[in-house]
Amino acid sequence: MLISADVALNPVRNGFIVCLESGSSQSITGHYAMQTIMTGAGVAVPAPPAVLAVSGESPARARAAATALSAHLCKHKAGSDLLLVVGETDAWLETNGTEVRVSFDSATMRHRRKGGQNELLGRAVGVKADRKPRVWDATGGMGRDAFVLAELGCEVTLNERVPVLAWLLNEAIAAASVSTHEPVRAAAECMTVVVGDSCQSAVPSDSVLYLDPMFPERKKAAAVKKEAAMLQRLTGGYDDAEQLWAWAWAQPVERIVVKRPLRAPVLGAQRPSHSLSGKSVRFDVFVRKKQPDSIGQAEV
Ligand SMILES: C[S@@+](CC[C@H](N)C(=O)[O-])C[C@H]1O[C@@H](n2cnc3c(N)ncnc32)[C@H](O)[C@@H]1O
Repeated sequence: MLISADVALNPVRNGFIVCLESGSSQSITGHYAMQTIMTGAGVAVPAPPAVLAVSGESPARARAAATALSAHLCKHKAGSDLLLVVGETDAWLETNGTEVRVSFDSATMRHRRKGGQNELLGRAVGVKADRKPRVWDATGGMGRDAFVLAELGCEVTLNERVPVLAWLLNEAIAAASVSTHEPVRAAAECMTVVVGDSCQSAVPSDSVLYLDPMFPERKKAAAVKKEAAMLQRLTGGYDDAEQLWAWAWAQPVERIVVKRPLRAPVLGAQRPSHSLSGKSVRFDVFVRKKQPDSIGQAEV
């Protein structure tokens, strides 16, 4: 089954909206019924991983996940090199013994929150004591950057085209919403997931548009490499950074922020208004005049 999906303009909090070919939209909280998404550009996202219940834990939850993702529910690890393992309160991706989790309430995330890169991200997006912009994160991924921005007080919409990632993001938001840490609960309240190709979305003009496109990994910490390898696997290594940029530039937003590896070239032909550089990444910030009738004019 191949369903083409367009993302609706009005995301539902902590749910997905999927517009099917007929143009009818479905709001499906916590799950969606698709095997493969054909994006607007005609790019097929790889089929979902097989789903496996954690031994002795909730098989019903695993079944529900398999149904939601139109994925195969398997009984053993053998035979599937990529799995979504689903337990009573947890779920993770697994390949060859390597586990990758999406979690906003982990020790790793708490440590990461203290990092200088978060401050740079906030500044790039334009967060100030009295200004918390709405953010449209067009490359949701594992939701790390989105969560940092939500914790800084921004309302964040995460658009992710790989269904299993969108599913895990929603699970992580649900888990964070009952965290014992108040700031984690508050941030979860500010996050909404939209599944589908961002290039089919219309971003509200009052949002900051954030892009963190796939980029070939070089020297990175083992944990980061593990996640990057999983992302490559889930996306089939498909890099649509140039298309994302062309789409982003056509949106009626005043500010676009692009995350790049420190020494990577600027994405697209336009010159950033300014850049903020950290140890390994750079945020290119494009600030434009509000010109609803003439989208895409740079303020230079
Ligand atoms: C480098 S990761 C983003 C990581 C994210 N910033 C984080 O903090 O976890 C890029 C993500 O963008 C997604 N992506 C790429 N092109 C997309 C598109 N056209 N629409 C929606 N998602 C897209 C990929 O599936 C991948 O998950």
